[in-house]
Amino acid sequence: MSRPSNRAERSPTVTSARHLMFDDLEQLGDILAVASDITREFVQGADDMDVTCRDFSAFDPLRPMPGQGRGALDALRAAKEEILPLLAASIGPRYLGFVTGGTTPAALVGDWLTGAIDQNATGPEGSVTAAVEEQVIHWLCDMGGLPRGRFDGVLTTGATVSNLLGLVAGRQWCGQQIGVDVDADGAGALPGFEIFAASPHASMIKDLSITGIGRNNFTKVATKPGTEETDIADLKNRLAASTSKAKLVIASAGTVNATDFDNLVAIADLCAAFGAWLHVDAAFGMFAALDDRRAHLLSGLDRADSITSDGHKWLNVPYDCGIFLTRHINVLETSCRAFAPYLQTEAVGNMYINRGVENSRRFRALPLWMAMRAYGRDGFTDIVRANCDQASDLADWIRDHDRLELLADPKLNVTMFAGPGSDDDNRALLSRMNATGKLFMTPTVYGGRFGFRAAFSNWRMRDHDLEIIKDTIDSVL
Ligand SMILES: Cc1ncc(COP(=O)(O)O)c(C=O)c1O
Repeated sequence: MSRPSNRAERSPTVTSARHLMFDDLEQLGDILAVASDITREFVQGADDMDVTCRDFSAFDPLRPMPGQGRGALDALRAAKEEILPLLAASIGPRYLGFVTGGTTPAALVGDWLTGAIDQNATGPEGSVTAAVEEQVIHWLCDMGGLPRGRFDGVLTTGATVSNLLGLVAGRQWCGQQIGVDVDADGAGALPGFEIFAASPHASMIKDLSITGIGRNNFTKVATKPGTEETDIADLKNRLAASTSKAKLVIASAGTVNATDFDNLVAIADLCAAFGAWLHVDAAFGMFAALDDRRAHLLSGLDRADSITSDGHKWLNVPYDCGIFLTRHINVLETSCRAFAPYLQTEAVGNMYINRGVENSRRFRALPLWMAMRAYGRDGFTDIVRANCDQASDLADWIRDHDRLELLADPKLNVTMFAGPGSDDDNRALLSRMNATGKLFMTPTVYGGRFGFRAAFSNWRMRDHDLEIIKDTIDSVL
């Protein structure tokens, strides 16, 4: 029996507006070919585009929605004309803001496929998605040098949500230690929950607010002079002085500015001694484990109770993709479980719906899986090593420059520096650098000084890009 044509077989209930969708389905090949051309042009052209767009006044956010559409090809044309010229080339090599990964070709097509197949990756019912996510989590553990059997986890929308899960699971575990079920009875039932952190990332502060703990409600631990690293003696004193029975320590493996790594072995020892949950924010730092020159920085990570990491930064998969790992998956599943008769299943496998914030979930394991299959461990190792070398190269150049000052030696992939003059002079200098369209950097304040961050996390960065960056800085100094 031949398959009915998408165009021909229309029931009277299909309105003319919905015919547009069936017509689009019929000509999907043409639509994808146009989309493919547009994508190729954008992705391959990203090296030569202005790195950021500074004027998007041509786009009217208040324009009314069309009553009648004209189908996908028309929308593609509109996107190409009205949106694409106004984008940042953040997938290109000289976007040095935040910690922004690009997208490798395999990850890109993995993401395309993810949209096309549109699985709801909740669990093992009727689709292999859960098994793929499980495999990806195993591979991620291998990449981070973590023993497979010890950690399990879930893919999230980003490191911010992974940090949130660390707080939620840690709080639940702390309650369990003293006979309080936070999941059932609420955080109010937990007497005196104390959080200790030296250099929590901004996302963690946000998560303290979201969880109802409170942005200001953590014990600030001192940092070692001139670093963002936890002062171990101070942490020990503060843990010893605490009267709280529920304690959680937030440590860092790669801070966002100085890329400092905490002494995780010492912190894990203290957490064991004082009965505290150890959460490590290793959003991008976890992948330093791939670089044999830096893997030692992660000693002790395997003793963390929970770990935040991220795919859309250094693994160069498209947004969004965060990673959460824990040694206590049952605790996480207690805090995040979704219960309703219609959600029950007999299928065997991990129920990712019970491991995070969302119930319905994008199949975000697929872009990661594609990139891992396509490039292997060696591919990611090369990205990490190259980006670290580039950060060092820029730092060396700044050190020798008579008008620039290096704010800290980069330990990983971020170079922080400042130009001559006051903070205001430096703000103006940053604007001038970014206005060239040749690079994009974000501001920071380090050691009380206003400066610039150049974060190297893109697989496309090559030597000649570094030369362009140096020439551009010189041209506006
Ligand atoms: C150390 C660290 N943690 C957490 C985050 C938050 O990541 P995301 O924006 O992907 O949620 C970042 C982002 O740069 C980071 O560097």
